[in-house]
Amino acid sequence: MMTPQHFLALDDFAPERLRRLVDRGLEIKTALREDGPRKDSPLRGRLMAMIFEKASTRTRASFEAAMAHLGGSAMFLDPASTQLGRGESVADSARVLSRMADVIVIRTFSHSRLEEFAVHSRVPVINALTDLLHPCQLLADVMTWQEHRGPVAGKKAAFIGDGNNVCNSWMNAARLFGFHLAVATPSGYEPDADIAARCAAAVSLTNSPEEAVAGAEVVVTDTWASMGQEEESQQRRRDFAGYQVTRETMERAAAGAIFMHCLPAYRGQEVTEEVIDAEQGVVWDEAENRMH
Ligand code: CP
Ligand code: NVA
Repeated sequence: MMTPQHFLALDDFAPERLRRLVDRGLEIKTALREDGPRKDSPLRGRLMAMIFEKASTRTRASFEAAMAHLGGSAMFLDPASTQLGRGESVADSARVLSRMADVIVIRTFSHSRLEEFAVHSRVPVINALTDLLHPCQLLADVMTWQEHRGPVAGKKAAFIGDGNNVCNSWMNAARLFGFHLAVATPSGYEPDADIAARCAAAVSLTNSPEEAVAGAEVVVTDTWASMGQEEESQQRRRDFAGYQVTRETMERAAAGAIFMHCLPAYRGQEVTEEVIDAEQGVVWDEAENRMH
């Protein structure tokens, strides 16, 4: 049996293929706006299984909506009501579900849990977020950046805040799409060291948000406490003081810089209300683009 083509990290696809996916997303978005719902149902008879071990609004809704647009079906499996949630092994769950579904989308905690699932799956597995990576988010983010400001190669983005799963995927995107990413985190909250080393030619790390945003066409942030880190919220609010994206932060970036956030946002923490709601905030396109 051939190994299925999984999408666990951006690296699973060659740069040219990633660029084509982003371009295709923009084409599909335009076609939906201009021509209305498509009638060809290219995924008719196909089933997507979805296993979400963490909460989700955008990822779940976007996958289900896209599957409906393409004429296929989605089957959402809540761990609270499946045997996976009662301790059935990841390997056995993968063996069973991949005999029924044509593709499996998973959101979970450790990246190794996702990888183990993929090893035992007969069908492609898509990473819908792990503690380490959020590659689907970055397809939408690069698409949104390109939609608003044209091709991203050779440009600069700044990620301010926690060196988390979204930040790690931004670093991978910088390497694969050919832009520069400046990451500003408090010390102790740097992104994954192995990914940072691999992306060193495209990424710079600093503790200074001012330094990171200088000349950046995009300013990005994310929550200071990701899912699973709720108990650290208070401490993190203290540690991230000074890393909030404010109007002043945006004024230090390149003229006309846009603001992006994968959402959910905690207004008044990592970003001010004023920035996220300003015209330069493109977070609603970013959320919609998850679907395309
Ligand atoms: N951005 C994102 O992945 O959002 P959800 O957690 O709502 O899916
Ligand atoms: N870093 C956040 C992203 C949510 C989409 C988290 O993992 O909770």
